[in-house]
Amino acid sequence: METQNMNLKKPMLFTLEKFHISEDYGFILPDPLQELSHYYMPWMEIASNLPLMIENHELRVRVDTMPLLSCHFLKGHREQYLAHLLLSCITMGYVWQEGEKHIPKVLPRNLALPFVEISRTLGLPPILVHSDLVLTNWKKKDPNGPLEIRNLDTIVSFPGGESLKGFVLVTLLVEKAAVPGIKALVKAINAILQSNEDVLLQALQQLRTSIDEMAKALRQMHDYVDPAIFYAVIRIFLSGWQDNPAIPDGLIYEGVSEEPLKYSGGSAAQSTVFHAFDELLGVCHSKESTTFLHRMREYMPPSHRAFLEEIHSAPSLKEFILSSRSCLLHEAYNQCVKALAELRSHHINIVAKYLLTGAAKAKDGGLDCLTGPPQALAEKGTGGTVVFSFLKSVRNTTLEGIID
Ligand code: HEM
Repeated sequence: METQNMNLKKPMLFTLEKFHISEDYGFILPDPLQELSHYYMPWMEIASNLPLMIENHELRVRVDTMPLLSCHFLKGHREQYLAHLLLSCITMGYVWQEGEKHIPKVLPRNLALPFVEISRTLGLPPILVHSDLVLTNWKKKDPNGPLEIRNLDTIVSFPGGESLKGFVLVTLLVEKAAVPGIKALVKAINAILQSNEDVLLQALQQLRTSIDEMAKALRQMHDYVDPAIFYAVIRIFLSGWQDNPAIPDGLIYEGVSEEPLKYSGGSAAQSTVFHAFDELLGVCHSKESTTFLHRMREYMPPSHRAFLEEIHSAPSLKEFILSSRSCLLHEAYNQCVKALAELRSHHINIVAKYLLTGAAKAKDGGLDCLTGPPQALAEKGTGGTVVFSFLKSVRNTTLEGIID
């Protein structure tokens, strides 16, 4: 009886394991599979030649003659995630092969049926998401070498050559830099549950260092991604069919629904990291931004979404800090909020460079691009936001979190 009472009083500690989040890789899928079994060869062959097939305007013909395969032979989450990556990339290529011209109204059943089936299994939408493009789409060139950009490659690519790879892999490295921060987040919540101010202070200092490291990783975008190529070639393959004037009615998934379905495109707004840090720090965004950001959570793997819900229902860090007399804790908390706002400012500069400068360069015609830069998305992000007012609002509301 005595032991039972003691157990009741003990708070349940927060763990990453419960949410299938890796201690070493965070939200990144550790060591993703690169190939499926022979039965799935038709998907593998198309996905591994996407850039060439798109550039030669051959992809749609290849997809139209692709056999209809069942998802039943996919075993375990690693095969399922790879299948989602392959089918989502083939879908984006199929829809945007000719840029904004001649967009198909229908995704053929031999692609739509297995894609929707695997999406339902994984609890993801049937479109390319951040978890496909970045978290599942990487391999080491030398398996024993470091997780650095020169030792990394993508599993599936779109047109855009080295810039496309740079965009995916730099984003991956931002996610990797967030791993100590994710662990610090867990440590912080557990410290609150145990009212341990010393451990909490340590956790907040680790979180702040990790956010700074994310900013450092993000800066590599300048070295590896050409703005004109990003704007004119890459961006369209990340675009969705919700709030996109180029494809206003959405897309019919043949054999799934007679009505067109609408989904947002792939965006790092679907990265669980920023949502998690916002939840921990108690950052409150405007109603409009929150609506968009919460919609993006539907594009995350369900276990990552559940992780966010758990942080949300944990005891509030901000209230704990406010009720504490420790100036050190106040300061450490404020440093985290400032670092997150700075990271967002930095991201805004990157977006300005890649959308505005990229647009100018592409318009100058200095680039021999395949399809012409996407017009419908000129002022919108791939997730469909009106970009700069949204990003600035999110940055400013982050800063409002600072405790005087
Ligand atoms: C060339 C590089 C990048 C461009 C052009 C870019 C562009 C954008 C755009 C347009 C949005 C608005 C939402 C939407 O419509 O999808 C956005 C949001 C967002 N992006 Fe990026 N992005 C880039 C790289 C990154 C990277 C590497 C990360 C970090 C993993 C990131 C994290 C975010 C987050 C978290 C949001 C949601 C807003 C926020 O929470 O501050 N982005 N991005």
